[in-house]
Amino acid sequence: VFDVASFLRELRAEGCTLGEPFEYYSLTDSTNERAKIAARAGAPHGACFLAEAQTAGRGRQGKTWHSDREENLLFTLLLRVNVPPEQLSALTLLVGVAVRSALASATHATLCVKWPNDVVAPRSTDGAHVGRKLAGVLCETEMSQHAPPAIVVGIGINVLAREFPEEIAEHATSLLKLEQDRLRPRLEVTREVLLLRVLRELEVRLTRYEQGEQAGFIAELGKHDALLGRRVTVNGRVGVATGIDTHGQLLLRVGERVEAVRSGSVELVVASGEPPA
Ligand code: BTN
Repeated sequence: VFDVASFLRELRAEGCTLGEPFEYYSLTDSTNERAKIAARAGAPHGACFLAEAQTAGRGRQGKTWHSDREENLLFTLLLRVNVPPEQLSALTLLVGVAVRSALASATHATLCVKWPNDVVAPRSTDGAHVGRKLAGVLCETEMSQHAPPAIVVGIGINVLAREFPEEIAEHATSLLKLEQDRLRPRLEVTREVLLLRVLRELEVRLTRYEQGEQAGFIAELGKHDALLGRRVTVNGRVGVATGIDTHGQLLLRVGERVEAVRSGSVELVVASGEPPA
């Protein structure tokens, strides 16, 4: 089980401004739901809600988020930052970039961010897929009388999972599996250390973002963009992904034009004759 006492000791020793108050659930419906309820009751910036298991863990676009108990990291952070609604997708990406960086410190595998919210581990054999999904981010806003409104940032990270349900087995992985693929029997870091690293990476980027340095994390994303140069389809449009703009929109070159896509889910287009993964 997650060692709350040792996590809080380290968190305080490092002086991290995110992570407290910390609420731990052995089982809950969804940590995003817990955070939203707490936000309405006035919970402060930085509050963190972590569960060992969820009965209604949710992902983007109405999907469910699967995790067996005590294996992974399932948590939600409550942020009270002034981000206009149109910048929410940029914030989701910023979180993705921070999570990627924290996870990259714990694995020998190369990790990328797949717009708009995934951390993936690309495979050299991948044709039809960008890579296996390691983590996902789901940001939601919660309006209340308390100003500024709360942003609920739900993060799911596959840490120690060895198996996945059949429907996602081909497209999902965990830090442990990535290490085992490289013939390392175990993961060197604990879930407690990993969470602390995520919070630190996020805090640094959030501070810069609030100081008006939006472009910083976009440049970082550019180095780890899973879609860059790939032929993709999004919202029925087919084009080549050419990067992400400062609003967090995906840039898609369709013929001679470059279109900015605000939201959607992306699939790779595999040229005929190219073998699928
Ligand atoms: C996605 O990739 O679709 C986003 C997945 C987000 C899952 C996390 S798990 C912790 C938090 N609570 C939830 O119900 N969802 C997020």
